[in-house]
Amino acid sequence: MRAARIVLRGASGSSAAAASVAPVPRTVERFSRYSPSPLSMKQLLDFGSDNACERTSFAFLRQELPVRLANILKEIDILPDRLVKTSSVQLVRSWYIQSLMDLVEFHEKSPEDHKALSDFVDALIKVRNRHHDVVPTMAQGIIEYKDSGAVDPVTNQNLQYFLDRFYMNRISTRMLMNQHILIFSDSKTGNPTHIGSIDPQCDVVAVVQDAYESARMLCDQYYLVSPELKLTQVNGKVPDQPIHIVYVPSHLHHMLFELFKNAMRATVEHQESQPSLTPIEVTVVLGNEDLTIKISDRGGGVPLRIIDRLFSYTYTTAPTPVMDNSRNAPLAGFGYGLPISRLYAKYFQGDLNLYSLSGYGTDAIIYLKALSSESIEKLPVFNKSAFKHYQAGPEAGDWCTPSKEPRNLAKEKVAM
Ligand SMILES: Nc1ncnc2c1ncn2[C@@H]1O[C@H](COP(=O)(O)OP(=O)(O)OP(=O)(O)O)[C@@H](O)[C@H]1O
Ligand SMILES: [Mg+2]
Repeated sequence: MRAARIVLRGASGSSAAAASVAPVPRTVERFSRYSPSPLSMKQLLDFGSDNACERTSFAFLRQELPVRLANILKEIDILPDRLVKTSSVQLVRSWYIQSLMDLVEFHEKSPEDHKALSDFVDALIKVRNRHHDVVPTMAQGIIEYKDSGAVDPVTNQNLQYFLDRFYMNRISTRMLMNQHILIFSDSKTGNPTHIGSIDPQCDVVAVVQDAYESARMLCDQYYLVSPELKLTQVNGKVPDQPIHIVYVPSHLHHMLFELFKNAMRATVEHQESQPSLTPIEVTVVLGNEDLTIKISDRGGGVPLRIIDRLFSYTYTTAPTPVMDNSRNAPLAGFGYGLPISRLYAKYFQGDLNLYSLSGYGTDAIIYLKALSSESIEKLPVFNKSAFKHYQAGPEAGDWCTPSKEPRNLAKEKVAM
């Protein structure tokens, strides 16, 4: 079969070079024609409830996982040739194809066959392990690509667009695989009060405290000091009651840990000459629609001009960390903290924003859905609109750009 490859506008690379990338198998094409089916938190809970049906979950996943993998494979294949041809992206692409093929084999098996059901759990574990290093490997591919030549602004924007979709797709496939493995594998290792990785009574304040402690340990290791935590909670629905929502605690912990690391680094570096550090203030509020967590620091803030760039996968002001496999994880360094955390927030229809007072400090705000009925997976789909997005070239702005030297109006003739 011929490879249907489209070269991204602004991308370099010849069609002869493109031919060296193996075409996706026909099976990938077949599954890419379906759109992913987003699940609601309620559906995810139903899969794991008392009358949980392994056969239903098996039948759903053997179709849905290949669809999600195939959709994102189609997007990988319209990236610039020079990027797709890097050894790192080739490796990632081969993992996706292999996993899709592994899962499609289960289409021939009956959901009534017990052996097939237990083989499916093993296959999911194998796929999950195979994809363990997708984030650093893809990041390495982007670095190789950027090092090998200039990247124009449009291609840069498309890369950001792609990586947001690629990592969101990965968050979603990991979520589905984890749920099935945790609920149906023989060696039940998860928390007994959780449904897979979902806590139907997630104690938000406890997760905040836990994430703070983890970040604080790193901060102490690195700077030998760390700011205190000042926590306020407001239950706007049932006053004075603890705040619980249906959520995935590991996702919430991930976001909070990243935001705490950033807030601590900014505070310690900005207040170097102060006798003591200003605490990090956290406000947790449960409203009718939103669960909002605000993390405020006095770390000097960031100019408005830069805020959007902080969510770019290549922006960091931290020194490049040394990858020496030591146990000391760096407090900052790859620039993935904010963009990936925002994806976790968006995955169940929430959001994550930064509001800064340059010269003073920053407020980072996480918004989550307070009602589980509104927590529905947000998934990328490879369709015409997505395709068009990659094709769009640079457009002239529709706002005036100020010229460097303003016209001297005094010299101009006034029309009478
Ligand atoms: N609270 C904050 N105050 C000031 N600057 C911040 C704050 N949060 C983020 N930044 C800036 O945004 C940059 C990007 O943050 P991000 O968390 O995405 O990456 P990082 O911290 O550099 O590396 P890592 O991937 O390890 O998190 C930081 O390098 C820092 O310059
Ligand atoms: Mg960070």
